[in-house]
Amino acid sequence: MKYFIANWKANKNFDEAKQWVNQFLKIYRPKTERTVIICPPFPFIPLLHQAVNHLKNIKIGSQDLSAFESGTYTGEVTAKTLKGLVDYVIIGHSERRKNFHESQDLIGQKISLAKKYQIEPIVCFQDVTDRLPNNIKFIAYEPPWAISKGYEDSMKTVIEETPETVIKVKKKLKIQSDKCFIYGGSVNSNNISQYLKYKEIDGYLVGGASLNPATFYEIVSQV
Ligand code: PGA
Repeated sequence: MKYFIANWKANKNFDEAKQWVNQFLKIYRPKTERTVIICPPFPFIPLLHQAVNHLKNIKIGSQDLSAFESGTYTGEVTAKTLKGLVDYVIIGHSERRKNFHESQDLIGQKISLAKKYQIEPIVCFQDVTDRLPNNIKFIAYEPPWAISKGYEDSMKTVIEETPETVIKVKKKLKIQSDKCFIYGGSVNSNNISQYLKYKEIDGYLVGGASLNPATFYEIVSQV
């Protein structure tokens, strides 16, 4: 199984989200060999949920969740709120660690709450020195220097990461083969075929190249 995770980040308004869904559903064909996970901003989750819930091999994820379970935490979106709307959640993305000062402890709390509410955490790490929790299935290697390097050019935009170096990181961290090892960092429709040659990488977190439904499907449909 290969996983293709669309991380829209803080992009799109409601009309743009609807357009994306309409266009994607026109071209999307399910395949048993791959799972597509779409992670939109929180307000668009119900829209996506309604549109794709009945389709095979396509799931919804959130880009984060609260480290609190419920209560007097104005503005927080909790695992309890998200239960039933999403199947996955991205936790510990480098942009959250950097811009919102997320600590390892906070990330641990988020992982526990996700699990408590049956939401599968996709936990991001940035380099070999990061501490990896051992009770998670999805581990995403996303070196910050390789993120958002432009999507037009091919491998040369991915500054220092190549499929070979990504696999070296997996080996160095002794990530077992029963885990789903995900890579993210300027994956696009030009370079995906290079990565897909390697069975060691189980899936891809795609940011910028997921914002256009046709480009994202070009990536997905190579499996
Ligand atoms: P990118 O983002 O594909 O735009 O580099 C990936 C990510 O940060 O999840």
